[in-house]
Amino acid sequence: MNRLSRSVQAPRVLNIEDLRRRAKRRLPRVVFDYIDGGAEDESTLRANCRAFEAMTLRPRCAVSTPVCDLRATVLGASLSVPLILAPVGSCRLMFPRGEEAAARAAGEAGIICTLSTLSGCRIEDVAAASGGPVWYQLYLIGGRECALSGIDRARTSGFSALVVTIDTPVAGFRERDLRNGAKELLSGKLGQTLPFVNQLLVRPRWLAALLADGGLMKFENVVIPGKGPMLYADVTAALEQSVVTWEDLKWIRQAWNRPIVIKGIHTAEDARRAVDVGADALVVSNHGGRQLDGVAPTLRILPEVVTAVGDRVEVLLDGGIRRGSDIAKALCLGARAVMAGRAYAYGLGAAGGAGVARAIEILRSDLVRTLKLLGCASVVELDATYVDVPRDWLSK
Ligand SMILES: Cc1cc2nc3c(=O)[nH]c(=O)nc-3n(C[C@H](O)[C@H](O)[C@H](O)COP(=O)(O)O)c2cc1C
Repeated sequence: MNRLSRSVQAPRVLNIEDLRRRAKRRLPRVVFDYIDGGAEDESTLRANCRAFEAMTLRPRCAVSTPVCDLRATVLGASLSVPLILAPVGSCRLMFPRGEEAAARAAGEAGIICTLSTLSGCRIEDVAAASGGPVWYQLYLIGGRECALSGIDRARTSGFSALVVTIDTPVAGFRERDLRNGAKELLSGKLGQTLPFVNQLLVRPRWLAALLADGGLMKFENVVIPGKGPMLYADVTAALEQSVVTWEDLKWIRQAWNRPIVIKGIHTAEDARRAVDVGADALVVSNHGGRQLDGVAPTLRILPEVVTAVGDRVEVLLDGGIRRGSDIAKALCLGARAVMAGRAYAYGLGAAGGAGVARAIEILRSDLVRTLKLLGCASVVELDATYVDVPRDWLSK
């Protein structure tokens, strides 16, 4: 076991919050806050986590469950745990070849990893690193030509599903990033960078690793015809011109003949609409509270979406997963599996692939313990009888 792996073992790291603290120590503030922060007052970010606290468990005691079965099937792929790594952009700023490290850890753990369009590692390299099923998350950044080339590369590399994110018509107002000078640091202009550069210099290990990995990454999967991979400085403006509409989903459906997952469902109405345009699965997601602040926590929306779509598509949830018991609660309300973003991004920032593996292991062992304490032998048996939902959640 190497130094990084040792640094995230028990008793130093027992939970996701421990990984968060370690990431904070290793990363410059601008990178840590990019992971940790949310939009505006961060009220949805907090609410996502609090919703899990508000829902309580109803165990069946004096029941022996010597072995608990955690296996789940999502879009035909079998997972060792009902957990999927959510798309997280710019992982290469968190750790050298970050997306490859995350995909490798997911593959070794028997779960799916989703690669963001806004990643620093190439689609082909992430597929090769993974060894397991991988999904590709699509933004229309750079225009339709550019998206079609990404779709084509994902198909050729063996990605098994396309995740289309629909809640990003403009980047959320993430105030921490603005205060930390994220824009200035990424501009590449010395004059603009100088007032903010100190936070990088006080993390020499991170800085040395970044430089050894080639310095500031480009978006290797957003290749602008005639220009090459998109530069960091261009991304915010490009994102604002890349809104995905229901119309776009028609040509995307035609261009991709494998399963499509629509991510960013906030209401029963949009859930039905997503089914109508041919989605195979939905993710009830508010982007981890990074987009429209003030929307309801995802756990609270989940029952309305599950009721709206029935068993026509598979329903996933993300936002606020920090404990295995959070996974159990989402499954009790009808999610087939959950996605986690920050939980593994903290691990990546703390210790690279070893930290991602540790995050997955923490959630897995938490889930086993939760099932045993609930007196439930398998994740597929989890249902609403194992939980109490706050009364006002049912008023709709
Ligand atoms: C640092 C960071 C970057 C993200 N980048 C993307 C992205 O590129 N595409 C996307 O669809 N979602 C992105 N997300 C949202 C996640 O996919 C997911 O919806 C969210 O993290 C779930 O909330 P959680 O972090 O509480 O688990 C990002 C989230 C974080 C924390």
